[in-house]
Amino acid sequence: MLAQIQDRDRALQEAQDELEARVEQRTHELQAEITERRRVEEHLRAAKQVAEQSSRAKSAFLANMSHELRTPLNAIIGYSEMLEEDAESRADESAVSDLRRIRASGKHLLVLIQDILDISKIEAGKMTVHIENVSVQAVVAEARATAEPLARKNRNRVDVIHEDRGEVMLTDAVKFRQSLFNLLSNACKFTEDGVVTLEVETQGRDLLWHVRDTGIGIEPEQQHRLFQSFSQVDSSATRKYSGTGLGLAISQRLCQLMGGDITLRSEPGRGSVFTIRMPLAGGEETAS
Ligand SMILES: Nc1ncnc2c1ncn2[C@@H]1O[C@H](COP(=O)(O)OP(=O)(O)OP(=O)(O)O)[C@@H](O)[C@H]1O
Ligand SMILES: [Mg+2]
Repeated sequence: MLAQIQDRDRALQEAQDELEARVEQRTHELQAEITERRRVEEHLRAAKQVAEQSSRAKSAFLANMSHELRTPLNAIIGYSEMLEEDAESRADESAVSDLRRIRASGKHLLVLIQDILDISKIEAGKMTVHIENVSVQAVVAEARATAEPLARKNRNRVDVIHEDRGEVMLTDAVKFRQSLFNLLSNACKFTEDGVVTLEVETQGRDLLWHVRDTGIGIEPEQQHRLFQSFSQVDSSATRKYSGTGLGLAISQRLCQLMGGDITLRSEPGRGSVFTIRMPLAGGEETAS
């Protein structure tokens, strides 16, 4: 009987010792795991800081570079304008046409630099917008005047559909125009012998600006991608259409910053409709 009890006690003691050893081992393992996890977290935090720093440095670099590039470019444009006037007064046709080319290329470069500056500001979260009341009719008139010469280049016609009810939009006038003109210039660029229509309609508390074209259209799988920076359907070196692929990325983000958006519907070979939605100033609500 005593021997049995002693055996059981020994067995119990052994089981307890083994349990204690296991607990101790598991505690060690857990401590090692926690230390490893802390090390990884620390590593990740440091990596995030480095990434944020380099992103800020990249944006600052782009902003400074854009400024440094613009200053001499403005001088080139200014001087070529002066020389062009001189050549005109001397009736020196060949010099006039060369100087006109210099000026046009300079202006083109200036637009590209401005686009790069815009996208870097947007990506750094530093783009600011000034929302104010803007007359819709004034923007429509300007849009028509801007689109007509663009459309003529590819023998397109511009139609405007807008019933003026004195609507007032809440937006940043300069940035809204930039976005709308981007869409109109795309429509004119990717359409030949067709029609580019600007239709403005009220829908609830929003105003919808549809820029419709009868041009080449966009494949469904390409449509979402085009709102990313530097993204074009044809980006080959031999491509037919000029541009950097920044227009839509900038325009969509500007519209989102102004409380709206840009969406797209398109059928390859038949045409595209890009729609800007912008909020109306209070009180203009009507049924859609
Ligand atoms: N109306 C349209 N019809 C057909 N394709 C279009 C149309 N608008 C845009 N796209 C396609 O989307 C791409 C991106 O347009 P986005 O305006 O961003 O750049 P881009 O016009 O090529 O250059 P950028 O505007 O910077 O001068 C275009 O290259 C084109 O492939
Ligand atoms: Mg464009």
